Amino acid sequence: MAALAEQPIVSVRDLVVRFPTQDRRATVKAIDGVSFDVRAGETFGIIGESGSGKTTVGRTLVFLQPPTSGTMHHDGVDAASISTRELRQHRRDYQIIFQDPNAALNPRMSIVASVMEPLKLAKSGTASECRARAIAALERVGLAPETGDRYPHQLSGGQKQRVLIARALTLRPRLLVCDEVVAALDMSIRGDVLNLFAELQRDFGLTYVFITHDLSVVSHISDRIAVMYLGRFMEMGPTEPMMAQPLHPYTEALLSAEPSPLPSDLRQPRRIVLQGEIPSPIDPPSGCRFRTRCRYAQPDCATTEPVWRELTPGRFVACHYAGQPGFMSSQPTHHGSAS
Ligand SMILES: Nc1ncnc2c1ncn2[C@@H]1O[C@H](COP(=O)(O)OP(=O)(O)OP(=O)(O)O)[C@@H](O)[C@H]1O
Ligand code: SF4
Ligand SMILES: [Mg+2]
Repeated sequence: MAALAEQPIVSVRDLVVRFPTQDRRATVKAIDGVSFDVRAGETFGIIGESGSGKTTVGRTLVFLQPPTSGTMHHDGVDAASISTRELRQHRRDYQIIFQDPNAALNPRMSIVASVMEPLKLAKSGTASECRARAIAALERVGLAPETGDRYPHQLSGGQKQRVLIARALTLRPRLLVCDEVVAALDMSIRGDVLNLFAELQRDFGLTYVFITHDLSVVSHISDRIAVMYLGRFMEMGPTEPMMAQPLHPYTEALLSAEPSPLPSDLRQPRRIVLQGEIPSPIDPPSGCRFRTRCRYAQPDCATTEPVWRELTPGRFVACHYAGQPGFMSSQPTHHGSAS
């Protein structure tokens, strides 16, 4: 984890992304007002259940998805205010890697052709220079130069994921969004790939936004974590204090669902289980959107939306009761689901 600089590499305020439903009769509120900074050199984790809006945040950060409203500054620059030519150059600094290496690699292209493709598209040097840089990138992620002559079906999942990392690195990005990048890998090689990410961060001073629904992955690699639910952030803060003492009931529930490394007699005696499906982002619950699954919900949670506030320096939360003495250490008052 690198030293952190003052200026955020990305600064997002009140970001909203909406999509029309297929029949165009309603609107999916995929991101419904999130604000955060990503600091240069850090790993910023985003966690949440399926459909909470994580990928949409990641795609927006790297200019693949235009915001419906809100502002986004990269190194203090508002992308909306610069020319198309400058934007093309600017975009190269912000890259994304997705979960499925098979979908991201063209089966008919050799590995080296895939890795050098972004360089060619960016008209960055002659064909032989692009090729040399692609081979160097493959070596940097631990793949032999001969791998470049092979095709995707001849590589393992872990090797293909390394190829995608090499491809993203050829443009020398400053920020890399990693969207579920180890989810498709065997447990046995996840550690190796995560270590590779850490090594590359040290060597290149990279900033990561690490998106996952796997709490053990995000807590292992992140300096700070945002917990996302139905298009909003519920909690955000430094990893260690958040893992030790979550402020939001949703974070508490996610943590309790994790397999515990502790021996059984030291584990939390009651396991909190989130009941029911995540509600629809077309019509999220009134007031606090987590209330239909919150074991601590009170009548005012249905009528008043919690304010996103900085409870202690660097720790943000959206819950009326967070920080009140005794909150979350009491018995459930509503929707209890302890087992
Ligand atoms: N292009 C699109 N058109 C319509 N709806 C979309 C589009 N992209 C995302 N959505 C919807 O926006 C919501 C958030 O989707 P998103 O993919 O960001 O969630 P996620 O947190 O990444 O989920 P997962 O963990 O399953 O990857 C979902 O309800 C999804 O169906
Ligand atoms: S505001 Fe109410 S429903 Fe929302 S997390 Fe807090 S206690 Fe639960
Ligand atoms: Mg996703």
